[in-house]
Amino acid sequence: MPGAAAGDGERTIVVLLGPPGAGKGTQGEQLAAALGIPKISTGDVLRAAVRDGTALGREAKAFMERGDLVPDPVILGIMKDALSQPSAARGAILDGVVRTVPQAEGLQTALSQLGRVTTVVLVFAIDDDVLVRRISERTVCEACQTPYTGHMPGSACPKCGGRLVRRADDEPDAVRQRLKVYHAQTAPVITWYATHGVRVVPIDAVGTRSEVQARVLRAFSR
Ligand code: AP5
Repeated sequence: MPGAAAGDGERTIVVLLGPPGAGKGTQGEQLAAALGIPKISTGDVLRAAVRDGTALGREAKAFMERGDLVPDPVILGIMKDALSQPSAARGAILDGVVRTVPQAEGLQTALSQLGRVTTVVLVFAIDDDVLVRRISERTVCEACQTPYTGHMPGSACPKCGGRLVRRADDEPDAVRQRLKVYHAQTAPVITWYATHGVRVVPIDAVGTRSEVQARVLRAFSR
């Protein structure tokens, strides 16, 4: 695998940045397998918490359904916990973190306490109209969270047999709000990384899943 995750106690942190529906989850899954490090998705953690009715889920539910961001301290808590797991000893793919400049600062501080770390930021670029179409066709597995296109709600997940559902935040009003939030609060994170000496790689996210995957893998062969 080109540019596999760093060895000798060094961690590779890959931050996936991009608007809703850009393919972060889809590509993150494949990149995690290719690099041999786990994918950490705050969206998946929060949706599981909402489904299970935990205190975290009760706190996050209304923010998510409106298409707003969950408060930074909650997200930083999830992220630090995930990064401290033995499975993340060689690094992680961060899908959906970071989304605000305070989250970028919080992640940087947390990583500075973990020894040698190489951070790469992949920015998925895609037009809003393509995103809206992708999201309107999406169902996700309630159990394993895998997203699908062209599978009906209520059918069985081809991967684990779980039930496929529409996400509550994939309704048109929430999608519009998520796009607004991305452009206002998350896009500035790209400049923050670029001005803090972190390698930022733009990824053209238009095309088939395998075309996009090839572009993502090329970013690690350089
Ligand atoms: P989260 O779950 O992270 O959602 P998101 O960022 O809005 O991204 P999506 O999951 O909608 O899309 P994606 O880019 O992963 O695309 P996917 O691969 O599914 O967050 C949800 C909510 O949680 C947030 O709104 C917020 O409230 C909260 N939250 C989470 N993290 C937070 C944080 N750090 N701070 C604050 N709040 C936070 O692909 C989309 C669809 O397209 C799928 O159906 C897929 O099959 C299909 N597809 C993928 N690639 C292609 C392709 N190349 N061609 C055609 N179709 C494709």
